Amino acid sequence: MRTQVGIVGGGPAGLLLSHLLHLQGIESVVLERRSREDLETTVRAGVLEYGTAGLLSEVGVGERMEQEGSVHHGIELRFDGRGHRIDFADLTDGLSITIYGQQEVVKDLIRARLEADGRILFEAGAESVEAPDTDSPKIRFWQDGEQEEISCDYVAGCDGSFGVCRSGIPEDARTEYTRTYPFGWFGILVEGPPSTQELIYTLHDRGFALVSTRSPEVQRLYFQCDPQDDVEEWPDERIWDELSTRLATHDGWELAGGRIFQKDIVQMRSFVCEPMQHGRLFLAGDAAHIVPPTGAKGMNLAVADIRVLAHALTEFYRSGDWRLLDAYSETCLRRVWRAQRFSWWMTSMLHRFDRSDAFQLKVQQAELDYITTSRAAATTIAENYVGAALGTSHPL
Ligand code: DHB
Repeated sequence: MRTQVGIVGGGPAGLLLSHLLHLQGIESVVLERRSREDLETTVRAGVLEYGTAGLLSEVGVGERMEQEGSVHHGIELRFDGRGHRIDFADLTDGLSITIYGQQEVVKDLIRARLEADGRILFEAGAESVEAPDTDSPKIRFWQDGEQEEISCDYVAGCDGSFGVCRSGIPEDARTEYTRTYPFGWFGILVEGPPSTQELIYTLHDRGFALVSTRSPEVQRLYFQCDPQDDVEEWPDERIWDELSTRLATHDGWELAGGRIFQKDIVQMRSFVCEPMQHGRLFLAGDAAHIVPPTGAKGMNLAVADIRVLAHALTEFYRSGDWRLLDAYSETCLRRVWRAQRFSWWMTSMLHRFDRSDAFQLKVQQAELDYITTSRAAATTIAENYVGAALGTSHPL
């Protein structure tokens, strides 16, 4: 099998790359380890930056997002029993975010690719990237118990943090930067009405809590937990008690209940692999970097990488000029590190690292007080959250 761009991973990064390349007349094959059903039903992130939502619309896969997604013009920061609104629209000249689940983005992209006769091989697990530093790299993979191979001009490693592509960059040619956090996020999906029109990020003595949503009927809530916690130790009543305690306000705000139909624990990690390329192998999204979820940046960073990569590949196929491809890693890493900083900062400000550390809680509350009363400070959170302050955007 041969193609121009071999793409490992059928998440938002891999599928979007395949779609953008197709729009430029460039052929690709996407290899995805999981089944289509699994991809389309696994609930992951849900916040699209302004530029991410704009890109999906611009390239023709935004129709359902525009109908079913929900545009938010601000968030609430809650601490010391009081809520404070950060008004994105006011602070960023009218920008907003869109709440639309990652699996819905994936569904829309799969449909667009299949309608255009694009090739996505489901349940095809990549084993290795061979010869990335030659001009004919190959991807080895397994499908239906048989080992197969694709030869290509370029390989895009969009296979997530546990994928095989990163090891295509020799160990002595890469540096990995890691930070782990002493907590996880306990996430629930609830069938029930929303408690709030906008997301609520809360700092409480017992730890962080977040009220988010997926649709008018489905709510997404999280609270800081022990990374070793087991969902079995958290019956519904204990979850509601914990969330209500952390989210309580002096004016008696009430959390809407509902039927919990999924519980999961998300680990918290910051990770960057530098460089993000080696020869003809390019890493994008979680394969190259992980952010803790607090700033809602994961999927947005993946989309931003793909915007740069699709543009660079298009330029190469159009004119033979590989300067943009050479600069791929450097171009992306600037944005990646700025998003890392923001995610680390939001995480540090909103979580309890050590419950016996009363000094830290006071300093965190003072920081939140500053952010919610100074227009300059509020602008730093707003412009980072909507994605306007994370580096230059790139043409398609
Ligand atoms: C969601 C996830 C996040 O990490 C976040 O910061 C906000 C919302 C969500 O899944 O809805």
